[in-house]
Amino acid sequence: MRISSAFASQSAAERVSLRIRLFVGLLLCAVFGLSFAASSRGAVRQVIIDTDPGTDDAMAIMLALTSPELDVRAITVVPGNVTAAQGLENALRMVSLADRCDIPVAGGAQHPLFQKLVTAEFWHGKNGLANIELPHSKCKADPRFGPDLIIELVRAHPHEITLVPVGPLTNIALALQKDPSIASLVKEVIIMGGSIKGGNVNAAAEANIYNDPEAAQIVFQAGWPLTMVGLDVGDKTLFGRKQLEQLGQTHGAINDFIYGVAKFLVELSEKYGDTGSPMYDPLAVGVAIDATLVTAPLMHVDVETRGEFTRGETVANRRNEIERNVLRHFPEGDRYVIEGLDHVTPNAKVCIDVQADKFLQLFVSRIQGK
Ligand code: BDR
Ligand code: CA
Repeated sequence: MRISSAFASQSAAERVSLRIRLFVGLLLCAVFGLSFAASSRGAVRQVIIDTDPGTDDAMAIMLALTSPELDVRAITVVPGNVTAAQGLENALRMVSLADRCDIPVAGGAQHPLFQKLVTAEFWHGKNGLANIELPHSKCKADPRFGPDLIIELVRAHPHEITLVPVGPLTNIALALQKDPSIASLVKEVIIMGGSIKGGNVNAAAEANIYNDPEAAQIVFQAGWPLTMVGLDVGDKTLFGRKQLEQLGQTHGAINDFIYGVAKFLVELSEKYGDTGSPMYDPLAVGVAIDATLVTAPLMHVDVETRGEFTRGETVANRRNEIERNVLRHFPEGDRYVIEGLDHVTPNAKVCIDVQADKFLQLFVSRIQGK
């Protein structure tokens, strides 16, 4: 029965009541529709990428920009793989290539907190981007200081922003020092850095931590939900000839740029006898997209800032307990005696394993054709 004929056979009171019920029904649909839209927006993770671009940083940024699970709210630049100025230029050229001038890109610190900068053109190419000369950027740098931009966005969106630092932790430490309240306002911090199985700079330290150990210790002890995507787990995600070939079959501005970066990295890895290049920074973005890609038990992590051979090492307590040594007096002399175990509170989820093939496939599928 059509609505008009139903109306004709009803009394005025019934018609009013039917109209009210129709109105309420439509209102409920509208409210439900709006809240559904809001909740599906809520499923998208808002991220700030703090980066020292860098070849694998470039892969991480492009993975983030091509993934619908993530909304990149800002990119802040830290010196590391390249100088602060080169890093800012690289970040701007990349957001321009991706046609995303809407994303603020801000410079930050010019050097680590307490030591001289170490740059890594040796591994990343003269310009940090595999010597690929991207077109000049049509996007402009955001005038705000990177750590201030982080504070501003975190305060404006409490419990919504995930920080993804994939360079030395200088900018993040500066933001924390300026406004410690951000520690309780960010949703999560997912760091590429550290290792629980030895380093890449030397026997003990991973590069991002080694390049600013004091900053790293501030960040690890801030009391916020932190995931460490370290070197040892990144080493399980080797981008090799197979993935390169897959990227070579498709085209697009991002696709072709990342193909060039990946080719540089695969050839570099082969030169050193490896079968592929570790996806360190992209894996941190991968964990922001899908945390189930990794196994990450809770541990207490400290950063060694003084060791003669171990400055910059991430020292992880896997059992989350330490022996309690108490000084006791004995006729033969004083000594410490172990009297029990004290619990140490974990401060990080530490990635120890990864579904490498699934992650590599995710990466390739996101970049292909873009
Ligand atoms: C880290 O160091 C840098 O060279 C890479 O970009 C990555 O963030 C790996 O140790
Ligand atoms: Ca990096």
